[in-house]
Amino acid sequence: MATTTRRAKPSTATALEPVAAQARPGLRILHVASEVAPLIKSGGLADVAQALPAALRRLGHDARVCLPCYRKTYLEAERLGATWLSTPMVIESGGVDHKIGIAEVKLDGMPVYLLACNELYDRDGLYGPSAHQEYEDNARRFAVLSKAALALPGAIGWAPHIVHAHDWQTGLVPVLLQRGFCKALPATRSVFTIHNIAFQGAFPAHDMRLAGLDPWLYNPMHCEHFGRFNMLKSGIAFADRVTTVSRRYAEEIQTPEFGWTMDAVIRHHGYKLSGITNGIDPAAWSPASDPHIPAHYDADDMAGKAACIQRLREECGLARREDVPLLTVVSRLTEQKGIDLIIDAVSPYIIAGRMQLAVLGSGDLHLEHRLNALQARHPGWVYVWYGYNEPLAHRFIAGSDAFLVPSRFEPCGLTQMYAMRYGTLPIVRYTGGLADTVRDVSVGEGTGFTFGPIDVGHFSAVLDRALGLYQHFPAEWKAAQRRGMTSDFSWDSAAKGYVDLYQGMVFG
Ligand code: ADP
Ligand code: GLC
Repeated sequence: MATTTRRAKPSTATALEPVAAQARPGLRILHVASEVAPLIKSGGLADVAQALPAALRRLGHDARVCLPCYRKTYLEAERLGATWLSTPMVIESGGVDHKIGIAEVKLDGMPVYLLACNELYDRDGLYGPSAHQEYEDNARRFAVLSKAALALPGAIGWAPHIVHAHDWQTGLVPVLLQRGFCKALPATRSVFTIHNIAFQGAFPAHDMRLAGLDPWLYNPMHCEHFGRFNMLKSGIAFADRVTTVSRRYAEEIQTPEFGWTMDAVIRHHGYKLSGITNGIDPAAWSPASDPHIPAHYDADDMAGKAACIQRLREECGLARREDVPLLTVVSRLTEQKGIDLIIDAVSPYIIAGRMQLAVLGSGDLHLEHRLNALQARHPGWVYVWYGYNEPLAHRFIAGSDAFLVPSRFEPCGLTQMYAMRYGTLPIVRYTGGLADTVRDVSVGEGTGFTFGPIDVGHFSAVLDRALGLYQHFPAEWKAAQRRGMTSDFSWDSAAKGYVDLYQGMVFG
């Protein structure tokens, strides 16, 4: 059965320029991801899939990105003036031909390719109709994404040295590349980055036919994991190099506690694993120029910070109590992020009138219900906004004193770095990228607060420490704010780490 793509029609778009005209010195790298900011975002992956290639380009490399063209992405792309290639690609999956239209958008000069296929991606959700449900055909949707990403270079006349795939949705890219799916890219090498090992893309065995892989690859050394076809494992097994998003997480995923049944696989492939801690985009997250916040400030003049806090209190209907710190959360509301712990540990402080809490996020229904109850019990002291809201995220992070990230595990985490940039002290669990990026004030030269064992007792103890510093040692609090605001969290050093990795693969 052949299927068609509404948006894949021939358009007025001109074909892309030939390679020679576009060649830049250095490496050619194609990033493949299921989300890329600002075109579509559900979490930190989108930020990284935009900022890392942009940083690679600043270092003189020709990095480009491709992603599926979801319904929202299409609208955003049209707004940004997308141009459509005249000839769609045809990608076969499990006996069905899918026509894939290709649109190009430039994000600050970086070519971003949108892979459009109505029957697979023209939907409101990225991974499912809601945060609690997955689409039944995700195996097909993302098998086709991997195949289309590898066919793209042929369609645009541009051969990358490296294809860099992100998370399980693109886990078949390294397999297909190594199994010769793309004859046009005989010398291209692959990098696979694990952003979160808890999400693995595990499907029934028969879904392997969607990728067109030899059935013998369904074994524990390659694509099978505990009786399922596992796209994350496939990526790990076949990639030339595997990376993850912080140094500490690279260690942690080799242990049963953090490996989500994949720790032995990671240890087996440890020789090709490295951890490179993410950066953040300092232009998008700067209190001196952020268009979303009511007042601007920097480390030398913090007056605007107080104004941001005051305005957030007003916006959220919180009591005007400048003597009490306002704590915020901007997060997926899941067990991973320790939201249950926040509710349990912060409640007594709210009852005692010692802190205020504002939460922005969406996710697990039982956590939303518990937050609703907390808000209802403490009007003027707790505020919750459900959903995804980029401008509000900026106002929360700028307009609070401290920021909570008590994650059970955290591959990297970006919000704690945003918080530090805005002089909002992060209170985080000492794990993964949180441990790599936040230094506890008690060890000197600190930028926030960390705690170890994940229980209410230890979290309450760190809240006590934070409250103590805020109330009794304002000079130390200010010094920690200043250190965080002036820390270098930019992508520059992380991007250099990736360039070293790529160069080692390409030039030996
Ligand atoms: P994860 O990717 O695990 O969710 P990260 O800290 O790496 O965690 O990235 C989360 C990203 O999503 C950040 O850019 C954060 O600001 C953003 N974010 C999370 N929830 C919301 C929300 N409800 N509204 C706006 N932005 C959000
Ligand atoms: C994942 C992780 C998060 C990380 C992000 C970007 O969503 O959960 O910790 O910051 O990817 O790498």
